[in-house]
Amino acid sequence: MSAIKIALFGLGTIGTGVADILLNRHEHIRKVTGHDILLARICDKDIVSQRDTYISPDILTNNPDSIFNDPEITVGIELIGGIEPARTFVLRLLENGKDVVTANKALLAEHGAELFAAARQNGRTIAFEASVCGGIPILSSIATSLQANTILSINAIVNGTSNFILSQMEHGGTSYSSAVKEAQKLGYAEANPAMDVDGTDAVQKLAILAQLGFGAAVNWKDISRMGIESVDAIDFKFANDLGYRIKLLAVADVGEEGLELHVAPTLVKFDNPLARVQDAFNAVRVVGDYVGSVFFQGLGAGRKPTASAIAGDIIDTVLGRTKITFNTLNLWKDDKEVMPIKRSDNFYGKSYLRFDAEDRPGVMRDFAAVFSEKNISIASMIQHEINTINDNSSKQKAVIILITHESREGDLLAAIEKLEKIPSIQGKIIRMRVQD
Ligand code: HSE
Repeated sequence: MSAIKIALFGLGTIGTGVADILLNRHEHIRKVTGHDILLARICDKDIVSQRDTYISPDILTNNPDSIFNDPEITVGIELIGGIEPARTFVLRLLENGKDVVTANKALLAEHGAELFAAARQNGRTIAFEASVCGGIPILSSIATSLQANTILSINAIVNGTSNFILSQMEHGGTSYSSAVKEAQKLGYAEANPAMDVDGTDAVQKLAILAQLGFGAAVNWKDISRMGIESVDAIDFKFANDLGYRIKLLAVADVGEEGLELHVAPTLVKFDNPLARVQDAFNAVRVVGDYVGSVFFQGLGAGRKPTASAIAGDIIDTVLGRTKITFNTLNLWKDDKEVMPIKRSDNFYGKSYLRFDAEDRPGVMRDFAAVFSEKNISIASMIQHEINTINDNSSKQKAVIILITHESREGDLLAAIEKLEKIPSIQGKIIRMRVQD
């Protein structure tokens, strides 16, 4: 049996995990695939530092050309992350006749059309299971087992770091910043963890799910996005009192006007399985017209789960399975009929609003008038007297929590803008979506 030579770019947390699984499970992979898959070269800027897994210095290089120009290497694994040089490296791999495996959601969400066109032009493939929800086989499930369905909706927790932070905050004891540090230490967080907490990582993954599940061509930057930065310990208490948990949800939902896409901190009812997903776990609920609702849960970040997905893609590529799926799906193709994306102004849904207000006669009348003018109906409201306003006056302050009935997003945002101008309302209005 002659060895199939593959090469890896990027020896960070995930790259080391991939090297580990390929080197230490080499015999197992040979047995189950019938192929001798050999990690022939690893390219990284740093080829000196010791990694957790022993890697022979003979296969380390900092010269990417030694991979592009090696005709014996047939598969390149891109684990550099970010846009450049990852984009150029993927293009060079394809131009040099090599198939690509990548975990890079930012790259696909931004340059999917260019990279897939280059792969088609060169008769090569791109596999990308690890780009969404790490170890959960969500992309292959949508692409293969569920392909006879029309997908109706996807509701998912796709960012492990923010779920970890929300879980730590909800159960008390851990501050926001130490939860971020812990997520970095465990290898969940992005190089820039702001992308985890501001929803960027989640919209990039949602853009990939939208392409795969719905054939929707959407730039991740156009997806409606709210992060978890404004979620406060007090919100967990109020949410709990109302029967909800707070999760950063990525949603794709087919409606009459097209596909509704958004990422936002969301109050999820206790009995929804997504509400029970804790720590760094990810979960995806897919609804298809034939299959009904299916639920996937697992670790969406971290060395081993992500390496598991990447190794699966490498095996599929070597066995030729990726080629079949790649050619059948025709993703990111210009001439494909694409599903329209609904304007966010026209989304309908329930919202949770929290704000501080002066506690005196007439304040509630003022904000109720704004809701009435914008045609927003209040479903429930809690007011807590809290303390005095810190402006050297003796004004009493109240925290107001509202849940609206289904309302049009454009109307709600207009109402929030108007409410924030009312002098008796203090500071910003915190808003989350609500899913029953
Ligand atoms: N930073 C990501 C997360 C890693 O926390 O989910 C996987 O994309």
